[in-house]
Amino acid sequence: MKEFIVAIDGPAGSGKSTVARLVAAKLRMNYLDTGAMYRAVALYLNSKNLSPSDDLTDVLDEIEFHYKDGSLYLNGMKVSEQIRTAQAGKLASDFAVNPAVRSKLTELQRAICKQGKFVVEGRDIGTVVVPHAQVKIFLTASFEERVRRRLKELQEKGTILTFEQVAEQIKLRDEQDSKRSLAPLKPAEDATVLDTTNKTIEQVVEEICEIALRRMNCESNRC
Ligand code: DC
Repeated sequence: MKEFIVAIDGPAGSGKSTVARLVAAKLRMNYLDTGAMYRAVALYLNSKNLSPSDDLTDVLDEIEFHYKDGSLYLNGMKVSEQIRTAQAGKLASDFAVNPAVRSKLTELQRAICKQGKFVVEGRDIGTVVVPHAQVKIFLTASFEERVRRRLKELQEKGTILTFEQVAEQIKLRDEQDSKRSLAPLKPAEDATVLDTTNKTIEQVVEEICEIALRRMNCESNRC
């Protein structure tokens, strides 16, 4: 079995990153964070004073991404923690509406996925990037729970914001990501939707691994 893809999509604060990383480790698969790609490209474009409504085709040609030993590199530089700020998340969501950005990153993500077995997290993996993924999961959680999780994550990094400020950021991001015309955030028709509100990380990871292992067995036995 060469290519095997577990697509994990969902909104901000649904627990995607933590869960996807753990599922990849447990199944001994590679992990691809497509949000990190959008964040890194957005920071690059923003540093050149460009905006999402500009024609970005030429400048995108300057960007070379590669994936090596579990890490992403943009123009030879490892994509670092710099992309993890709330501002980078907002910029990523802004630039993600641009058709040239989407088409460049979608193409790159497909090429990376061809390299083997991947757990891929994002917004449009099961619907657009890898619609033939063997496993498609859509993670959700209540709005309040997603705000609480994001608030905790920010606090752990030393960023102090109020519940209301984080709620506003997540509301904006939800709207922008699910209402855009290109590759909006939504579950694929054949995705398993998992509500993580009242579940522990371990329970969610276990559930996804079970689904993936069942599918792997099925693939091996051609059932
Ligand atoms: O998952 P994240 O918070 O790191 O993603 C940041 C933004 O990038 C998200 O708000 C929208 C965009 N994104 C996207 O449009 N498609 C993806 N597959 C992943 C992220």
